[in-house]
Amino acid sequence: MEAFHYRNGELYGEGVRLQELADEYGTPLFVYSHAHFTERLGSLRTAMAEVDPLICFSVKVNTNAAVIKLLGQRGAGADVVSGGELFRARRVGIPGERIVFAGVGKTAAEIDYGIQEGILFFTVESEDELKLISERARRLHTSVRVAVRVNPDVDPATHRFISTGKKENKFGLDVARAAEVCGRTREMEGVQLVGLHMHIGSQILSVEPYVAALQRIIPLCRRFREEHPAFEYLDIGGGLGISYRDEEKELDPEAFAAALVPFLQPLGLKIVMEPGRYIAGNAGVLLTRVLYIKKNAVKKFIVVDASMTELIRPALYEAYHEILPVRQTRERAPADVVGPVCESTDFLALEREMPVVASGDLLAVRSVGAYGWVMSSNYNSRPRAAEVMVSGGRHALIRRRETREDLVRGETIPEWL
Ligand SMILES: Cc1ncc(COP(=O)(O)O)c(C=O)c1O
Repeated sequence: MEAFHYRNGELYGEGVRLQELADEYGTPLFVYSHAHFTERLGSLRTAMAEVDPLICFSVKVNTNAAVIKLLGQRGAGADVVSGGELFRARRVGIPGERIVFAGVGKTAAEIDYGIQEGILFFTVESEDELKLISERARRLHTSVRVAVRVNPDVDPATHRFISTGKKENKFGLDVARAAEVCGRTREMEGVQLVGLHMHIGSQILSVEPYVAALQRIIPLCRRFREEHPAFEYLDIGGGLGISYRDEEKELDPEAFAAALVPFLQPLGLKIVMEPGRYIAGNAGVLLTRVLYIKKNAVKKFIVVDASMTELIRPALYEAYHEILPVRQTRERAPADVVGPVCESTDFLALEREMPVVASGDLLAVRSVGAYGWVMSSNYNSRPRAAEVMVSGGRHALIRRRETREDLVRGETIPEWL
């Protein structure tokens, strides 16, 4: 079942009327479907059953404790890229041995924290980082598991701002350098090479870039498996694309498995995956209320109470998010959907055939479960939105709306002022 669907002309999240949620919790409001998260985790696991991967949910896409917890309860681990994300994952009970830690700029304090929490491995993204991990491990009288991130230089055919596996991107090490760094771990104290890692980009809609990347990485896996006794993991990252509009076909997990498993299975390695958007993207909508309808000589604007501070993806990547009326209507007219923020990039839709709505009506912006709330800000001193989870006919607040007091919490005025 589609988590968000019309019933008698009204939009529902599972068994709950979205109108009811807007009335109870106010707008703008993020609404997530519990069933969507669990179904997506399940479908990926089923598709990839032959290699039985450890699925580490990429926490960066949706950090809400309820979301991480529900996935963790169903056996998912966590892919984290900061001490803050590690804290969130551990706080809801994800065990260290199901946590992998990536990112090009880990600090000594974050490395120490990861070591203390006994994470599965650090993904090493540079030689300097490897040296620092070795130093911190020795200081703590321990040995740390590392997987070297390979940048395979493949084009994931996605937006250039979310490509991560091309040679001009900052992530990972090229194949030759990765091989060198892997070799160096043998002489280094405090580190153990346990695997290789790749993550080539996000919103990838075909299997070819994955296959091309694997073809470059697999020879290294074979070699290091021979040379390093502890080598046992291949982490293939995340990136599986979803459908943001009807005509966009998501990357089907069965097709993904059919293309990748023949490469992965013969390796005999433990496979780790780090999906984010695939699991969470279509689990959420952003409910927003129409404030005003404004027309000028050339355009109509639907001014709503959500903005780039709740959903920055349109401003950042010109991303397309479908916008549905909560009460179904047939009439359509071209309009821009804009928010109250004082920036011309503050739009949710541009020159789009929109349902004809009036002040007070509700709209639902789709596909905001990943890279939605987590990228929100307080710009223009806008308190951050609340988050709600629905499950069947139930609903619960999973993050309260910020208040004006929250905006100034942490600020201090020097006594000499
Ligand atoms: C290392 C790593 N793994 C996984 C992901 C998740 O990507 P996606 O949401 O496209 O699955 C990201 C996203 O940036 C990432 O940097």
